[in-house]
Amino acid sequence: MRGAALGLDVGTSALKAVAVDESGEVIARCDRTYPLLTPRPGWSEQRPEEWWEAARSALRQLAQDVAGEFEPRALGLSGQMHGMVAVDEHGEVVRPAILWNDQRTGDAVRTIEAAVPSREMIERTGNPAITGFQLAKVVWLRQAEPENFERTRHVLFPKDFIGYRLTGELFAEPCDASGSNAFNLHAQAWDADILDALGIDARRWPQVMPSKAVVGAVQPAVAAELGLPPGLDVVAGAGDNAAAAYGLGLSSERPQLGSVSLGTSGVISAPRGTPRPDPQGRLHLFCHADGGFFLLGVTLAAAGSLGWFREKLAPDRTVEELVGLAAQVPTGAMGVTFKPYLSGERTPHLDPSLRASFHGLSLAAGLPEMARAVLEGVAFSLREALQVMEPLGAPEQALLTGGGARSPVWSQMVADVLQLPLGRSGSESGPAYGAARLALESLGGRPPHTLDGIDWIEPGDFEPFEEAYARYRRLGP
Ligand code: XUL
Repeated sequence: MRGAALGLDVGTSALKAVAVDESGEVIARCDRTYPLLTPRPGWSEQRPEEWWEAARSALRQLAQDVAGEFEPRALGLSGQMHGMVAVDEHGEVVRPAILWNDQRTGDAVRTIEAAVPSREMIERTGNPAITGFQLAKVVWLRQAEPENFERTRHVLFPKDFIGYRLTGELFAEPCDASGSNAFNLHAQAWDADILDALGIDARRWPQVMPSKAVVGAVQPAVAAELGLPPGLDVVAGAGDNAAAAYGLGLSSERPQLGSVSLGTSGVISAPRGTPRPDPQGRLHLFCHADGGFFLLGVTLAAAGSLGWFREKLAPDRTVEELVGLAAQVPTGAMGVTFKPYLSGERTPHLDPSLRASFHGLSLAAGLPEMARAVLEGVAFSLREALQVMEPLGAPEQALLTGGGARSPVWSQMVADVLQLPLGRSGSESGPAYGAARLALESLGGRPPHTLDGIDWIEPGDFEPFEEAYARYRRLGP
């Protein structure tokens, strides 16, 4: 029977699972949703047992879908980064997982900054202390829920909890670990000095295995329940951004090729061979799944800004209609500027309390001008991220992904504003696919990534945007 590799992505809105054949072609896919819990303003949680339920259901479905033709031979993991799953000595979940987009940890970040000066934190871990990252959540737990903290024997990332349930093994891998504020990029190990300075026992974190390592086998009872082959290998995998980049073929040996995603959030990533951070910590620096590193600039509301605009201000229009209206307005949106900070901002401001605004409205401004300002504002925000990246080595071309990439108008605008050729490939991408490719490699398969067949959008002149971009910058955060 032909072999297959499986990939899971423990996402924020859903768990996504794919099966690929030995050439890397997707042969089956399946999604399972679960709720996002917001018990208080600014809190964002999920129940790890609901991820596990979703993972079992999706794997059972995939096993059925490929049965008879393919035999799953390895399974790779990926998932939302930064979250904290607290597990007790019996492997039971102590409290709901606190997610990457949770904002309760402002005081905890100040505690970390008092114990570890920001410069040192950036030098050791690649990033300043950030509200969304895992360490701040652990510090919050100790302060706010001391009983739960005492009960917590192991701290895991979302996908590693699923790995634990599948295999019975506790492990992490460098991509997610580098999004914790507790992992030393140079030593590729948990940073005992940082944890000592905070009085937290480093033994709460599991061993870190390479992304491509086989970390265990699916436990017999689980395999039997899900219809998977006994002893199926589980591969450590990667946090979702690294897994998605890996699936696209981004390699730290080819730093000139990056990626731009116009999803709910907008992301620019650039693979790097060495861990050189932005000294001010305005970009994230994480480990890549290939053993290297990557820089990540994030604008939190990209296609999310357009979705918000449609839902709140033009509910009777489609997104395509709004983009069509925007396309008829000249560059510069007739003096209207949109700052896209609907959810606060990461790059370059790192400030969860920032808020969005329209500026420069006149009696002549209407829906088309405002829609254009939204598209331009998101593109400008990505340009700011790219400019912070430039002294560290920005990509020379990038692959474009995310829902916004379906719009030729917006894609061209982003290429013009970033002054980067943007490539759209018709082939598969996404974290689950990247995880499946990591699993495939553990089997010795490495289908080549080719840039053939990619449709490149060449950047036009930046000059028409200059005045609008200067205005965007002048307005400040
Ligand atoms: C990256 C980040 C998000 C999560 C959610 O820093 O916070 O991309 O990984 O998927």
